[in-house]
Amino acid sequence: MKPTDKINLPKDFWFGAAASAPQTEGAAQIDGKSPSTWDMWHTLEPERFDQAMGPNVTSDVYHHYRDDVKRMQAMKLNSYRTSIAWTRLLPDGNTLNPKAVTFYRDYFKAMREGGIEPVINLFHFDMPWWLMEKGGWEYEGVSDAFAYYAQVCVETFGDLVTYWTTFNEPIVHVECSYLYGYHYPAIHDFKKAIHAGYQTILAHAKAIQAMRMVNPNLKLGTILNLTPVYGKSDHIADRKAQEAADLLNTKSFLDGMVLGRFSEPLLDLLREHDLIPDTNDDDLEIISKVKLDFIGVNYYQPRRVQAPVKATYPAQDPKDLYIPYTWPKRRMNPYRGWEIYPEALTDIATLIKEDYHNIPWYLSENGMGVADEMRFVDENGTIQDDYRIEFIYDHLSVLEQAIADGANCFGYHLWTFVDCWSWLNGYRNRYGFYRVDLKTQKRYPKQSSFWMRDVIEHHQKGGE
Ligand code: BG6
Repeated sequence: MKPTDKINLPKDFWFGAAASAPQTEGAAQIDGKSPSTWDMWHTLEPERFDQAMGPNVTSDVYHHYRDDVKRMQAMKLNSYRTSIAWTRLLPDGNTLNPKAVTFYRDYFKAMREGGIEPVINLFHFDMPWWLMEKGGWEYEGVSDAFAYYAQVCVETFGDLVTYWTTFNEPIVHVECSYLYGYHYPAIHDFKKAIHAGYQTILAHAKAIQAMRMVNPNLKLGTILNLTPVYGKSDHIADRKAQEAADLLNTKSFLDGMVLGRFSEPLLDLLREHDLIPDTNDDDLEIISKVKLDFIGVNYYQPRRVQAPVKATYPAQDPKDLYIPYTWPKRRMNPYRGWEIYPEALTDIATLIKEDYHNIPWYLSENGMGVADEMRFVDENGTIQDDYRIEFIYDHLSVLEQAIADGANCFGYHLWTFVDCWSWLNGYRNRYGFYRVDLKTQKRYPKQSSFWMRDVIEHHQKGGE
């Protein structure tokens, strides 16, 4: 097993875990919560979900949060990210649900009292159904509705929560809803995807503005999946493909949400393919005023691309600009089908340092989903997840070096604390420090939770 005393990270480094409301809370149909698009889609088309399992039950954190927080304390975690369900807090978009206020206040208070910094995200792919019925990201009022929700969140919980983020991986709800068919409304329209991306960036800017007006002392940020793009070769066509993938997937949201502007190369690409969204000067002005205190970086796997062999012009789909490339030397997590490449963290750190003013950041998601983990259970009921320990160790080691080289990285959160429900995979792949038995909702620590606790203890002792 990997050593627990070899990783040295800065004082006050965040050790924690991440999750989201829709993937953990359950209680989807009680206590005044209105349906999210996921709840509704699952009711309408359960066959689209792995083993027809939807977000209605999950790991039932709604009823288990107090004990889960105690487990976090036992592991010595000092921070935890989850999200608020918009549909629980404001079931119709306007009216505050008192039961949701009680639940979240109690949950955040339990974390605070346990020495765990709550990091609270506002949107984790979970569009309210009432808003989706108006057009979701295509509806022109979506950014104002989101900003109102953000304002209410900090008015209601700002005394308990200092760290807030607007979106988790904003590109995902865009590409999965409008290009790849994984999220509702599962349509294919490149232009609508770009428009939805722009509306998301505008919603982020309006939310940050609204939250700052309520309380200028909060720490505000967003969470982006910064997947470095590597081209197949130095051939000009592959380089062009790499640049397009980088502009569309990485720079678009980084520039728009962190710097408050869009780069000329991105605008040129959108113009060339007739993809420029409708904008107006007032909105661009709001976007340009955004200033963030930090960002979260979700990183699981790199993006490797090459030039398409056959492409439609102007592009109707990202695959007209770049297609995936399978690197022959790749190391894989075969269960999720994702490459394992910790070295990319060095490139992420350099990108943030050189192009984004070295804004403070933390690794807000990283992890390894593995199927059939009960294969590895020992006589004490503990899953011996050495593969996860190795995965975490390898990423923390690269992070340690990047920090020594000047990266402004202040934390590491594993996805996830207790095994949780996945949009596409139900409970097939398990990610948690804790296993959950879905029949009883009982939680059992995995070996990685003990290992991580020892890493944290070593850190707390000053790391010698
Ligand atoms: C992240 C998301 O990208 O990946 C999570 O923020 C998601 O919501 C996680 O669950 C793991 O992906 P998956 O598809 O295995 O659940």
